[in-house]
Amino acid sequence: MTDRDSALSIAGLGKRYGRAQVLDGIALDVAPGERVALLGHNGAGKSTLIKLVLGLTRPTSGTIRVAGHAPGSMAARVATAYLPEQVAFHKSLTGREQLTTFARLAGEPVKTVAPLLERVGLIDAADRRIGTWSKGMRQRLGLAQALLGHRCVALLDEPTSGLDPISRHDLYAVIDEMAANGTALLIASHALTELEARTDRIAIMARGRLVADDSLANLARAAALPTRIKLTARDGAADALHSELGGTRINGRAVELQCTTEQKMAQLARVTALGDAVRDIEMVPPSLEDLYRHYCGEGLK
Ligand SMILES: Nc1ncnc2c1ncn2[C@@H]1O[C@H](COP(=O)(O)OP(=O)(O)OP(=O)(O)O)[C@@H](O)[C@H]1O
Ligand SMILES: [Mg+2]
Repeated sequence: MTDRDSALSIAGLGKRYGRAQVLDGIALDVAPGERVALLGHNGAGKSTLIKLVLGLTRPTSGTIRVAGHAPGSMAARVATAYLPEQVAFHKSLTGREQLTTFARLAGEPVKTVAPLLERVGLIDAADRRIGTWSKGMRQRLGLAQALLGHRCVALLDEPTSGLDPISRHDLYAVIDEMAANGTALLIASHALTELEARTDRIAIMARGRLVADDSLANLARAAALPTRIKLTARDGAADALHSELGGTRINGRAVELQCTTEQKMAQLARVTALGDAVRDIEMVPPSLEDLYRHYCGEGLK
């Protein structure tokens, strides 16, 4: 990918706070329409990276380009949507008033406000003071703000925190819509199971360094983590199954095997040869959580 193809381009990025090296040698590109999950332990540097992209703080080394512009410049700000880790609004304003203010600041017509409130499910609460809203409702208003206008880049810092399951589902629908419209999305989150199916690429940070950056499938291949095969035995056949195949006895009836991707078909053949001693079989590939543990563990060594 060249710089010109990237909506967001980060190279050799370093950040120090006093003597602490908070970010070190980060290189990351996000293309238009791409959804990248940014994962990492508490204090890994995710929010710092986002603040540098916004131009809220300056890098110690390296370069960032937002739609070709320097962070913090007028052009970069217009090109960027941002949902902060902790959304803060004027408590005495109503939702409609607050979003109207944001629309004016973003140079967007006021007539976009009502449909946006509708889009994030806040139209019924729109004329109540934000001070009376729940946390999830304020989070949704933050999302509505991020949706104002067409942005080249969206930076979402833990967007699902405080959202109920249906709201999370709605949020990912909004994310998909933004990606389909060509916005490059960087989503910092700890919600691994949700992100697994919802993003195109996974970037993992550990202690200020990028320790993985690829599609889930490629990361899984490179990590060579085992697939688990769970077998449920016919009544009274668990011992025989265990002594024939090895693996681990899970409870009275189940045996669990582990194998690499290459060994999967051979293992299946062994299981099939046992006929009706096996009542059920379940294959569990490595999850994003397994991969996260693997890459984070490597990065913290
Ligand atoms: N203004 C600051 N001054 C000094 N240190 C800072 C500052 N901002 C962040 N840090 C430090 O930088 C490191 C990274 O913090 P950051 O907020 O980027 O982590 P994070 O990955 O977003 O974590 P979390 O998952 O908890 O949100 C932490 O050690 C933090 O203490
Ligand atoms: Mg953070």
